[in-house]
Amino acid sequence: MSHLIAPHGGTLVSRLVTGDAREALVAEAASLPRIELSAKQACDLEMIAIGAFSPLQGFVGQADFQSICRDMKLADGTLWPIPITLAVDADVKATLQVGERAALHHADGTLMAVIDVEEIFAHDKTLEIPSVFRTEDEAHPGVKQVMDEGDWLVGGTIHVVELVPQQEPGEQFTEHRLPPAATRAAFAERGWKTVAAFQTRNPIHRAHEYLTKCAQEICDGLLIHPLVGETKPGDIPADVRMDCYQVLIENYYVAERTLLAVMPAAMRYAGPREAVLHAIIRQNYGCTHFIVGRDHAGVGDYYGTYDAQLIFDEFTAADLAITPLKFEHAAYSHRAQGMVSAKTFPKIQGDQVFLSGTKVRELLQEGQRPPAEFTRPEVADVLIAWATSQVPAGA
Ligand code: ADX
Repeated sequence: MSHLIAPHGGTLVSRLVTGDAREALVAEAASLPRIELSAKQACDLEMIAIGAFSPLQGFVGQADFQSICRDMKLADGTLWPIPITLAVDADVKATLQVGERAALHHADGTLMAVIDVEEIFAHDKTLEIPSVFRTEDEAHPGVKQVMDEGDWLVGGTIHVVELVPQQEPGEQFTEHRLPPAATRAAFAERGWKTVAAFQTRNPIHRAHEYLTKCAQEICDGLLIHPLVGETKPGDIPADVRMDCYQVLIENYYVAERTLLAVMPAAMRYAGPREAVLHAIIRQNYGCTHFIVGRDHAGVGDYYGTYDAQLIFDEFTAADLAITPLKFEHAAYSHRAQGMVSAKTFPKIQGDQVFLSGTKVRELLQEGQRPPAEFTRPEVADVLIAWATSQVPAGA
């Protein structure tokens, strides 16, 4: 496995505790002050535990928090774009002591971890929000989420006893929940030296498929790596998307060249900075290339179409080892009879198939497939089955 790309920061972190040490932690946790994790924090906890957020060993302290917000770096100079924080309210803060420990519980009651409370400091939202999101508009879902978080941050190393809570069995994606060590082993086993990762929070439409196929032409393997952590209301649920990915891969991809695994982080919708985080995460999973298309991790009109690509020009290979694969806005062209972008085919009025998310949703809810130039019929049918089973909003 030695030829695989090194994890970000050099070492793959594991914060999962097993065996007797785990038993001892569980016993200790019973008498510790308790912090209930938000959905985003629970996702972050899993990401840290499995090494997907390497080199982070826990939730950030103040020096890292400030340095990340201001300079996109950890205090030691390692590139890191978004602070991974444990925000708590004042009443919880009052129960904690620096130098002691606390128990971290999922909202469903499951004990997830114990944290060494190394620091407690004020949550500087006026620093975090404009730095990370490039806006302070509360209509932005990521901004709103940070606004609603607690006013105190707890920094410290975590010791994790449970990765996933007792959810509905279907939502854990156990078979596809591969930690970085497992994807790295899978790449090595398949003999892939170069692997392109594809981040997505949507069903794979034809434009997405095109990017992944282009990447397959130049890399040994493709990791289809959907984000299945917390997303905003209105995004298509992860279990429905997983059905879409599986039916698409079965019908349109080469099995030996394609791996499907889930990525358990929460979405921030932070556009450029989140694209950098997404790239670092994929490096940790062992990927050498990372697909960044139009408005990656964007929402609404907060970011320029290619801002999430431009940000990578600020770094050298010493900052970030994984290579971004930048793609122009792609769509099907009737005249070219295939997928094109402004780089590969001239723009002709009315030639390309563009559909808004709203239009696609309308079609699906009416039980109609979007055009095959936009969505593969097999994927459309999975989405129609889901959309037509939903109770319409306001009904
Ligand atoms: S994202 O939040 O994960 O970025 P989405 O699942 O829609 O959202 O996008 C996954 C990846 O595909 C991102 O890199 C995005 O930039 C890219 N992408 C989506 N649609 C297009 C398109 N029509 N042309 C080029 N790139 C696209």
